[in-house]
Amino acid sequence: MATHRFLFLLLVLAVFGGGGLNQRESAIIKLPTEKEEPAEEVGTRWAVLVAGSSGYGNYRHQADVCHAYQLLRKGGLKEENIVVFMYDDIAMNELNPRPGVIINHPQGENVYAAVPKDYTGKHVTTKNLYAVLLGNKSAVKGGSGKVVNSKPNDRIFLYYSDHGGPGVLGMPNMPYLYAMEFIEVLKKKHASKGYKEMVLYIEACESGSIFEGIMPKDLDIYVTTASNAQESSFGTYCPGMDPSPPPEYITCLGDLYSVAWMEDSETHNLKRETIKQQYNIVKERTSNFNTYSAGSHVMQYGNTSMITEKLYLYQGFDPATENFPPNELQSDTQMGVVNQRDADLLFMWHMVRLASFMNLKLLLA
Ligand SMILES: *[C@@H]1O[C@H](CO)[C@@H](O)[C@H](O)[C@H]1NC(C)=O
Ligand SMILES: *[C@@H]1O[C@H](CO)[C@@H](O)[C@H](O)[C@H]1NC(C)=O
Repeated sequence: MATHRFLFLLLVLAVFGGGGLNQRESAIIKLPTEKEEPAEEVGTRWAVLVAGSSGYGNYRHQADVCHAYQLLRKGGLKEENIVVFMYDDIAMNELNPRPGVIINHPQGENVYAAVPKDYTGKHVTTKNLYAVLLGNKSAVKGGSGKVVNSKPNDRIFLYYSDHGGPGVLGMPNMPYLYAMEFIEVLKKKHASKGYKEMVLYIEACESGSIFEGIMPKDLDIYVTTASNAQESSFGTYCPGMDPSPPPEYITCLGDLYSVAWMEDSETHNLKRETIKQQYNIVKERTSNFNTYSAGSHVMQYGNTSMITEKLYLYQGFDPATENFPPNELQSDTQMGVVNQRDADLLFMWHMVRLASFMNLKLLLA
C-alpha cells in the first residue's frame, strides 16, 4: 500500500512538476516593475484583421476577428485605422441561434456590434488584402476602400484566422494566399518605408509553413503562428466539449491560439506586458498546458528581438486594465479543443443531429 501511495505521489509530481517550474520562470519574468513610459510611442497604430473562411461551420474565424476588432477599439485604435476582412455570413445566418449576434466565448458578449464592413463577401480576396497592406487604394476592388495608409513611424498589427495548409492560407474567394507572394508584399511594404515595425499573429493549420525558412529577419516584422509547419491548429468552445458553447450552438465559438491571446490581452495591462510575456502564455495555453494533446506549437519568426516591446504599441491600452495584475503563467485546467479539420466534421455531425431533431419535431407536430 505504502509503495503504491509513494508511486502515486511520484506520478503527481511528474505530471504537475512542470507547472511549478513555469511559475518560477514567470516570477523571474515578472520582477522588473520599471515604469513603462511611452518613449517609443510615436506614429499611428494600424491593424488589419482577416477571417479567411466563410460558412456557419467556420463561425469561429469571424468570431475571432470581430473580437479582435472590439479589443483594439477598447485599446484606443481608431476605426479609420483598422481594416476588417470578413465574409459576413454569420450574424444573419439562418443557423445562428442569436440573429445579429456573434460571440467568441460561451459567456461572451456580442462582438459583432459596430464592426466595420470594409471587405465582405466577394471582396474578401488576397488581392485586396495585398492592396490594403501596401496602401494602394487604386488596386482595391470593391469594399470600403480603406487601406493602410501608414507612415514611416507607424506600427501595424495584422491578425489572421482560418484554415491553412503547407505554404498556404485560406481565403473565402480564390486564389488562396501563398507564402512567397505574401512575403514579397511584406518586403515591398518595408522597402517603401511604410512602417516602423509590424507584428503578425497568424492562426491556421500549418501556419508555421508560411514563414519557416523564408521569413527574413530584417524587415522589422515579428510573427507568431498558432502551429508549426506540420500540424493542425485547434478550435475551442466547441459543442460537447468543456467549456462548451450554450446548448443552442452547433458550432465552435473560437480558436485556441486566438482566444488565448485575446483573453490574455483583455485581462492585463498592456503598457506593462511585453510581447514575450504574451507569447509565453499563449504558447502554454495553445499547447494545452504542455501536453500537446489536442494542442499545437506556437512558433515565432522574423525579428524576434522585438519580443521585449510592450504590447500596447500594437494593441493599444484600455484604461480599464490600468490596475490589472501583470501576466503570470497560470496553471489551469485543460481546454476542450478540436482540430481545425475535425471542427468541420463536428459541425456536420451537429447539423445532422439538429436536422433529425427538427424532423422529429415535425413528425410530432
Ligand atoms: C497600385 O496598384 C496599381 C494597379 O494594380 C498599379 O498599377 C500601381 O503600380 C500600384 N502602385 C504602387 C505604388 O505600387
Ligand atoms: C530587430 O529589431 C531590433 C529592435 O527593434 C533592432 O535593433 C534590430 O536591428 C533588428 N534586427 C534586424 C536584423 O533588422
